[in-house]
Order: sequence, then structure tokens, then C-alpha cells
Amino acid sequence: MSNEKGRILKISVLKYNPQVKEDKPKIVTYELEEAPGMTLFIALNEIRQHQDNSLKFDFVCRAGICGSCSMLINGKPGLACRALTSKMDADITLAPLPVFELIGDLSVFTGKWMSGMNDRLETWIHEKEEEEKACSCDTIEETMDPDLSDEIYELDRCIECGCCVAGCGTIVMRENFVGAVGLNKIARYAIDPRDKREDADYYDLIGDEDGIFGCMSLMGCEDVCPKDLPLQSKIAYMRRKMVAMKDK
Ligand code: SF4
Ligand code: SF4
Ligand code: FES
Repeated sequence: MSNEKGRILKISVLKYNPQVKEDKPKIVTYELEEAPGMTLFIALNEIRQHQDNSLKFDFVCRAGICGSCSMLINGKPGLACRALTSKMDADITLAPLPVFELIGDLSVFTGKWMSGMNDRLETWIHEKEEEEKACSCDTIEETMDPDLSDEIYELDRCIECGCCVAGCGTIVMRENFVGAVGLNKIARYAIDPRDKREDADYYDLIGDEDGIFGCMSLMGCEDVCPKDLPLQSKIAYMRRKMVAMKDK
């Protein structure tokens, strides 16, 4: 077993608890020894266990699946559980994702924002009436082209982490902008043959500046998406459709 000492990491966290009236935002720097394979999630747990049990941050899966550990890592949105400290300088700064309601320190309420966006964009399959009527135990499931189902599955991999929202310039100017996450979801339903909605219906949902026409196409969203979703091509796909509707 190696007795070699790890680097000393200096992790500076923007701490603020909005629930405590007299609290003010402050940077608190913690030092700890780096361990092999350490992620920021592990480092933050170490800090919470041994140095500051008031430190707030979220996690559930520790495997890049739940989307709850997103935060600004050296100024860029990312998942703490996927961020290896070995890939970073020893001085690391962490802050909560902007845009979302702050719970405290690194913990933000992405669920509330996502739920509002999902309600607004009706992100569920709007079944065709014939299918609803035909639905019974004897009905044979409709088949789907495997390539199309792969494409839908690819877009469904979004974990609603909020990184694309936090990295988006439009949101700063338009607080109701649906973000790449919302535009990606609409693209997902637009290609799903089970959804009866037409382009005109999607136009009602995203055919304005809070939707597709607010997007500046600079693709900060795709750069920070931890699931590598093809946001650029899906935004372009919906833009073409919505421009065609606008011109009708
Ligand atoms: S491309 Fe559009 S959705 Fe993506 S970050 Fe830029 S403005 Fe936001
Ligand atoms: S599109 Fe990517 S960055 Fe945006 S919420 Fe989904 S997984 Fe996160
Ligand atoms: S803890 Fe679930 S994505 Fe990081």
C-alpha cells in the first residue's frame, strides 16, 4: 500500500443560507487531502463530515443519473458526483447554480423550475383518440421503428440537472425562457408518432421569445450538458419547424 500523500485541495464555497435573516453570502475555504479517485461529491461529504456539518449540497444517486448534485464548478455548470478532483487544479471554487431558487449554499430548487416548465410545455404524450379507445388487454402493442425509438430514448436521457439552464445567456434576460431542456423535450415529443400534437400546437407552446425565438444559438447549453444530449441539432430542428409555422 502506498503511503504517498495526496495533494492538499483548497475548496472555496459560496455559502449563504437565505432562511437565516442575518446571514450574508460569504466565501468559505476548506482544505482537505485529495484521495485517489476523489470526486467533488466525495470531497464535499468529507468536508461535511469532518469540518462543517452545516454545508448544504444535494445528491441522490452519486452516478450522474439523478441530476441533483449540479453546481457551478470553477464557474461552469456541472455535476459534483462526476467531477474528478484529479482533473482540476488544487484550488477549486464552487457556487450554487444561478437562475434556480436557492435553498442554501450549493443546494438549489431545480425541481420547482423543472416542474413549472414541464407543466407549461405539457411534456407528456398526448395520445391519439383512436389509441385511447382501442386500449384494452387484448390490444397488441404498436411497434416502433428501432431507429426512431433509439432517437427518442436518446433525448429522454435528460436528467433535468439544470446545467443547460444555468449556462444559458437568454435566461438572464428572459426569466420565462424554457431553456434547452424545454426545447429538447418538445423535440422529443415532436418526433414521437404516439403524440397527436401538430406543429401548430407546438408553436403555441414555444413559438415566441420565451421559446425557440428567444434562443441565441450560441450553444452554451450543449457545452455543459453532462449527458451530451444533441441540443444543438434538436434546437435547430424545432427552429426550422417553428419558422415554417410562423411563415404560414
Ligand atoms: S443555444 Fe439557446 S438554449 Fe442553448 S444556451 Fe444558447 S440561448 Fe440558451
Ligand atoms: S438537457 Fe442536459 S444539461 Fe439540460 S437539464 Fe437535461 S441533462 Fe441537464
Ligand atoms: S448525485 Fe445524482 S447526478 Fe450527481
